[in-house]
Amino acid sequence: MQNLAIFMLLCLPVCSAYPLNGAVKEENLNMDFAQQYLKNYYNLAKDVNQVYRRKDSDPVVKKIQEMQKFLGLKVTGKLDSNTLEVIRKPRCGVPDVGQFSTFPGMPKWRKNHLTYRIVNYTLDLPRDAVDSAIEKALKIWEKVTPLTFTRMLEGEADIMISFAVREHGDFYPFDGPGESLAHAYPPGPGFYGDVHFDDDEKWTEDASGTNLFLVAAHELGHSLGLFHSADTEALMYPLYNSFADLTQFRLSQDDVDGIQSLYGPPAPSPDEPEVPTESSPLESGTPAVCDPALSFDAVSTLRGEILFFKDRYFWRKLHWKSQPEFNLISTFWPSLPSDLDAAYEVISKDTVFIFKGSKFWAVRGNDIQAGYPRSIHTLGFPATIRKIDAAVSDKEKKKTYFFTGHKYWRFDEESQSMGKGFPRFIADDFPGVDGKVDAVLQASGFFYFFSGSTQFEFDTNAKMVTHVLKSNSWLLGK
Ligand SMILES: *[C@@H]1O[C@H](CO)[C@@H](O)[C@H](O)[C@H]1NC(C)=O
Ligand SMILES: [Zn+2]
Repeated sequence: MQNLAIFMLLCLPVCSAYPLNGAVKEENLNMDFAQQYLKNYYNLAKDVNQVYRRKDSDPVVKKIQEMQKFLGLKVTGKLDSNTLEVIRKPRCGVPDVGQFSTFPGMPKWRKNHLTYRIVNYTLDLPRDAVDSAIEKALKIWEKVTPLTFTRMLEGEADIMISFAVREHGDFYPFDGPGESLAHAYPPGPGFYGDVHFDDDEKWTEDASGTNLFLVAAHELGHSLGLFHSADTEALMYPLYNSFADLTQFRLSQDDVDGIQSLYGPPAPSPDEPEVPTESSPLESGTPAVCDPALSFDAVSTLRGEILFFKDRYFWRKLHWKSQPEFNLISTFWPSLPSDLDAAYEVISKDTVFIFKGSKFWAVRGNDIQAGYPRSIHTLGFPATIRKIDAAVSDKEKKKTYFFTGHKYWRFDEESQSMGKGFPRFIADDFPGVDGKVDAVLQASGFFYFFSGSTQFEFDTNAKMVTHVLKSNSWLLGK
């Protein structure tokens, strides 16, 4: 059957990957997971009865049917293996409602002339076949917008295109053949806008393998600011068909509406002056995990979880759960203030120390320890230090680092005293870490410095920055 649709799931780095290791066999666990998924993405009422009655009138069954329909699955109303497989795949925290969608915060390019660069190539195809697939994919977006694309042969382009396998320098390693084919970042500086293709796929010009043009066209839609569409005819539909007859390919009206909602229609004349466009920052209020501008007040581990504090809230990243939990600080620790300055865990004491202004608290699980808050000056800071910006405790060396302005202090957890010769300049001992330090996290041998929406991964042995990431990357997919 030549034109049998091949379903491919494209994933985005903005998605959360649910760990697939060891199939969870128990139907109850599957049901819990599915209900949470339906609540998150399909508006299943939060208060529906947890008991699954296997009747067509059951709201859960109805929602499963709706989801199966959206995803183009056989509508059985049951959590059959196909359905479970699909819902456990990576995805973003944006509900599958409506038709086209943009990323939260509607990031888009603030200029119409964009550059791209093909950084390297797959061996599956001749180079000029790759070049022309990318060019053709860009053309389909160029035709319906005022955007133009210029190829660069070296240097940093807006859209950097590369082929890579497995771990390739971001938080989203590829998975070998199948499943995840490619991913792309929404518009923005640095790695934003970039497209990575999984070179463990067999890339082809026709539909015999994975068609490079089709995947590139979809991924470039993400690079330009489109998220997925619920319209099954749309290129931006998350699971799409690779048809044998690619000459028939065209954007759906929904894709056109989507991209024009960001950039407008093509300019009537190419000589017309460009109208500067406004970015649309997220409304302040509840912080949103997908907001690329997201910054944190403080970050700490707690008993194997990672807590990210922001205003009155915190996200709780549990390693076994793809979606972080979002809570009010006061729900867990009613007497703690909001807008915290710093937090760090001393694992040997099973205690998290939390800082705001000149005070700090010791927290064990949900309990605030007696005798707190204390003054930060009891730790040995001079009276001139009124607050600290960030703190992290090195669990092997039993030393805690406190960051204040351009300097840092080192505190010995064993002797409970401030190290001699401090403060020192952050720039001297943590070269490459730029800007004000908001928060620091220790994980897998690295220090992660959060500065506004930027995150620096710092190798404490090599004493260098090894990656620059978005601050929210932990909450999106790691
Ligand atoms: C291509 O470039 C990317 C990004 O620099 C890199 O991660 C990847 O390993 C490269 N692939 C090959 C085949 O060299
Ligand atoms: Zn996609």
